[in-house]
Amino acid sequence: MLMRPVDLVSHKAKTGIAHRALKPLLGIVDPLNTRSMPSQVKSSSGLDVLCHSLESWTAIPYSERVPRPTNPILRPAYQGANPISDIFSFEALKLTVKYLPRSVHNPDDAEAQEKMLLAATLAGVGFGNAGVHLCHGLSYPISGMNKGYKHAGYEVDHPIIPHGVSVAVTAPQVFRFTGPTNPDRHLAAAEVFGVDISNAKAESAGEILGDAVAEFLVKLGDQPRGISQLGFTREDIPALVEGTLPQARVLMLAPNFQKDDDQKREDLARILEQSLTY
Ligand SMILES: [Fe+2]
Repeated sequence: MLMRPVDLVSHKAKTGIAHRALKPLLGIVDPLNTRSMPSQVKSSSGLDVLCHSLESWTAIPYSERVPRPTNPILRPAYQGANPISDIFSFEALKLTVKYLPRSVHNPDDAEAQEKMLLAATLAGVGFGNAGVHLCHGLSYPISGMNKGYKHAGYEVDHPIIPHGVSVAVTAPQVFRFTGPTNPDRHLAAAEVFGVDISNAKAESAGEILGDAVAEFLVKLGDQPRGISQLGFTREDIPALVEGTLPQARVLMLAPNFQKDDDQKREDLARILEQSLTY
């Protein structure tokens, strides 16, 4: 199954569409295609890969996703983390953490570009089967309600918050929020970023991964340090929350989020508030 994002400009909405009938006949994975990408396009695309891998790795387990299909054949592509998707998602995470900074900082590093394309492909299999959650759910209104931000390196004649930028900007806070649901997975991911987790406490797992992601973003460079640098203020948060809530396909996979709508609103508002600046 293939998922494509669409912009509905009249509604200031962006979302993904997915269907069993949307299947690619052929995928061309050729690192030569990325050779001339500006470094900011490399980093934005690579941060999308980072979030695909982290979100699918930390999505709720497939055995907990509701409503349950009446028959396994009816299981959706976005079914929650499972033993097969885990292998792809975690390997993609390792490759991205290792090679994304190299591919962004050195345009001649062909090996890093090749590995990033492999990471993107592996993460695609991982999240295509497990799904993504809050970073992506929040990214759609962030991109769709853009008030005029234009990311450097994008030669377009209109404002643009690239998809990868919009997913990564809330990532530190998202993983602080999801940490308590599965500390082992959050710590395992933090270790990939080079954090020594030998004495880490389970209750700090979200904080540790959130910090590791934030540091990675800062070192990568060219990234907004929070949604305020994208032009949003505290007053925009209620609209961003309302724009996130309809993203049911991804929100139902979010850990720590099986709640009623009022509680979901509160959680989303807190994540966005804490993502204003970091
Ligand atoms: Fe994405």
